[in-house]
Amino acid sequence: MLQLQGINAHYGKLHVLHDFSLTVNDGERIGIFGHNGAGKTTLLRACVGDLDECTGNISYRSQKIATGEVHRNVGYGMGFVPQGHNVFRELSVARNLQIAGLRNGQGGLGQVQELFPLLRERHDQIAGSLSGGQQQMLALGMALMTRPSILLLDEPTIGLAPVIVRDVLRSVTEINRSQGTTIVIVEQNVQATLENVDRAVVIKSGRMIFDGPSEKLLQEESLWHLF
Ligand SMILES: Nc1ncnc2c1ncn2[C@@H]1O[C@H](COP(=O)(O)OP(=O)(O)OP(=O)(O)O)[C@@H](O)[C@H]1O
Ligand SMILES: [Mg+2]
Repeated sequence: MLQLQGINAHYGKLHVLHDFSLTVNDGERIGIFGHNGAGKTTLLRACVGDLDECTGNISYRSQKIATGEVHRNVGYGMGFVPQGHNVFRELSVARNLQIAGLRNGQGGLGQVQELFPLLRERHDQIAGSLSGGQQQMLALGMALMTRPSILLLDEPTIGLAPVIVRDVLRSVTEINRSQGTTIVIVEQNVQATLENVDRAVVIKSGRMIFDGPSEKLLQEESLWHLF
């Protein structure tokens, strides 16, 4: 269980997260939505302890998440895929996966290739020459090489064509179903994401204004202007 209690995050004078509390249960798939600048990325960074000015309590599986201790925190089983394409563009697919496995061993490679057969077929291809969607799958595969029990994904479909968006989101659901990995996903593609998560959270100006089943958010038309 990932638990955030009374989180306040600042960047200097800017107060971004206001008394934010959230509990994510093991095995859940949760979508985080909100306007640009609402604080979604800040929230994910808080979860791994990647903020300088953050107060409140965060724990993952009963381990305290300490501010500034990202390396130790992710060691508790958190896989964080930040915004943007997170691959070594000049290296091959195989080398990217190997580097990602340096911490916890290469034992997860078979599972990653089973989930994304393309990564096996293209193992010698230079990552920078993969298409946007393929690079995103490689980034997901790299996160999986650390064998996380929870994946924190920041806009994994940004810049992708609508048909590819659905492929990437479906593969996230597949990771959850086949490996039981908890999913916390920040997305702008709200409709397609709601088809792939059980629960939705909406943030407005750093405050949670909705937390409920995905189907319920689809019915709350008054909130749709926020994303
Ligand atoms: N490193 C930083 N230094 C100063 N201000 C920051 C920093 N990172 C984010 N901010 C500010 O904090 C607020 C929240 O930013 P954040 O990146 O969390 O929003 P977001 O919801 O992820 O937005 P987007 O949908 O555009 O990615 C914004 O006003 C942003 O300008
Ligand atoms: Mg963001």
